[in-house]
Amino acid sequence: MRALVARAVGEPPRVEDVDLPAPGPGQVRVEIRAAGVCHSDLSMVNGTVASPYPLVLGHEAAGVVVEVGDGVSRVVPGEQVVLNWAPPCRRCWHCGHGEPWLCERAGTPAVARGRTSGGEQLHVTLGLGALAEQVVVPQHAVIPVPAELPMEVAALLGCAVLTGIGAVRRTARVAPGDSVAVVGLGGVGLSVVSAARAAGAGPVLAVDVSPAKAELALAAGATDFLVADESLSRAVRALTAGRGVDHAVECVGRGSTIRAAWRATRRGGQVIVVGMGGKDDIVSLSAMDIFHSARTLRSSVYGSSDPDRDVPELARAVLDGTLDLGFLITDRTTLDGAAEAFARMARGEGARTVVVP
Ligand code: APR
Ligand code: ZN
Repeated sequence: MRALVARAVGEPPRVEDVDLPAPGPGQVRVEIRAAGVCHSDLSMVNGTVASPYPLVLGHEAAGVVVEVGDGVSRVVPGEQVVLNWAPPCRRCWHCGHGEPWLCERAGTPAVARGRTSGGEQLHVTLGLGALAEQVVVPQHAVIPVPAELPMEVAALLGCAVLTGIGAVRRTARVAPGDSVAVVGLGGVGLSVVSAARAAGAGPVLAVDVSPAKAELALAAGATDFLVADESLSRAVRALTAGRGVDHAVECVGRGSTIRAAWRATRRGGQVIVVGMGGKDDIVSLSAMDIFHSARTLRSSVYGSSDPDRDVPELARAVLDGTLDLGFLITDRTTLDGAAEAFARMARGEGARTVVVP
């Protein structure tokens, strides 16, 4: 089968022929019908996050089960599924304490699986490698969803949307009337904007370095768009009675934007870090500022969600018309166009590109 493979830091990924193993015991083979281009993959291509190569990219996807290994009870061939990049084990300490998104056995950046046609060992992003025609994954990495759910939307439920909505509802617990700032308006940030508005927040201030994001932000439900520059915290204060926002959600993955979110937050408010930054990117805050501002700094991994519970719930909301995600998909392409979609994302263009292999 064909897959999008990254071979070296900074090199554009290429489509290669890959040999996937047959599903072993407890594994399933899924034919990918739609996969999103997410910044976490870009971070493994541009070196922000260290990763072994060669690496099959892609971790936000939906498809149809085509083959199951021995002992698979969760799905049967023909079922439509969303892929889960952090399937909880349900046995570790975190799983036992209601934090399946922090499962000790899940969410590893790259896992060895499959080979190139030349016999070389391949790694797959976040245990999936979904920018490919097919994946072979453990059965607990698939979540069945109704056949009527459009595949493109199903794909986005697997990362950007679950993360963005979860950050608002579960990590931040945004309440009606709260003020929210969202820094970084890609697929993740725009999902946060839309979830904040749906939660009754206001104002919802959408912030990006690229002024071209203004239109997308307003379509997602932002009340205001602000350009991220030196005057950001002043502009945020001007819209929040001089105080700053109750919640600032960072969706870029950089120390500098975490700091910008911190400064945009009111005394006693909270900063939610959704972006995945590099391990050497340091945020420095003064000890007095930390004490005096009484702010909380929290991270949101996979939207503090339990995908097995929350993905089907979001799928139902899409089908009954209460969750509209149409604004998120700004480009569509094939596997051969996926490298260009990464280049567009690196330039900060569009919201999400969906790849139909
Ligand atoms: N200030 C504000 N916005 C910025 C800045 C900055 N300094 N730098 C970049 N941005 C904007 C970009 O212009 C873009 O609109 O952040 C946005 C990032 O969007 P995408 O690249 O589409 O990323 P996305 O897939 O949404 O992921 C965002 O969440 O899951 C993590 O690893 C992921 O860290 C990444 C973050
Ligand atoms: Zn992602």
